[in-house]
Amino acid sequence: MTRKSPHLVVLTGAGISAESGIQTFRAHDGLWADHRIEDVATPEAWARDPAMVLRFYDARREQVRAARPNAAHRALAGLEARGFEVSIITQNIDDLHERAGSRHVLHLHGEIMMARSSVNPRMRYPLGRDNIAMGDVCDQGSQLRPDVVWFGEAVPAYPQACEIVAEADLLLVVGTSLVVMPAAALVDELPLDAECMLVDPDEQLSIPPGVTRWVASAGEGVPALVRQWQREGRLFVPAMP
Ligand code: APR
Repeated sequence: MTRKSPHLVVLTGAGISAESGIQTFRAHDGLWADHRIEDVATPEAWARDPAMVLRFYDARREQVRAARPNAAHRALAGLEARGFEVSIITQNIDDLHERAGSRHVLHLHGEIMMARSSVNPRMRYPLGRDNIAMGDVCDQGSQLRPDVVWFGEAVPAYPQACEIVAEADLLLVVGTSLVVMPAAALVDELPLDAECMLVDPDEQLSIPPGVTRWVASAGEGVPALVRQWQREGRLFVPAMP
């Protein structure tokens, strides 16, 4: 009998893109050390000073454009290319998973390379090489804003993320401080018999019970861990009948 291929679900945060040159948020030199969340990442900030919010996200977009996927993004995409069942749920707004070749990527907090209408979240537009300027409007005439989820806003992709985690055989959490809800609660959706592993270089990071810690950077830890799981037979592609 052919065994079903195990489903690897990966929850990523800013740390997986750190070695690609994209700043994390809560490090001593992270984004939130230089910017106040309430000035740039809330609906109130947008209402008060949209031009400043656009400038903040222009800088994020330029950082993403200059970045390249690293060994962690590539290891996950490589697994998928070789037929393993891999779903990625990312809190990141960058497109490095996609540029590495991953095809099943759910962005919980939106995508910096997309603009969206400020009145209708379903009206979304790829930005390509452009940024968003004041006066750029959607098809219904309202100002475009970055397609990112701000503090205080709903997370429309969360129910779908819960469904994905509930079907996982293995959950790999990479490079997230697990402090922002509801993303941090996704671990609770994992089936009781599934294993959860966290790759993060911060050995002080407080992690939920039942999660095994691998203290390493994403670029070292993720490729090593997926190799180990394949060696141990925990990740495999079913043989053709
Ligand atoms: N490899 C792996 N992990 C790393 C690396 C690295 N090279 N460098 C740093 N880290 C880890 C840090 O130890 C930390 O645990 O990445 C984590 C980054 O945490 P945060 O800065 O809090 O980022 P994240 O958890 O993604 O933030 C969640 O908060 O501000 C919001 O919307 C924003 O999506 C973001 C959310």
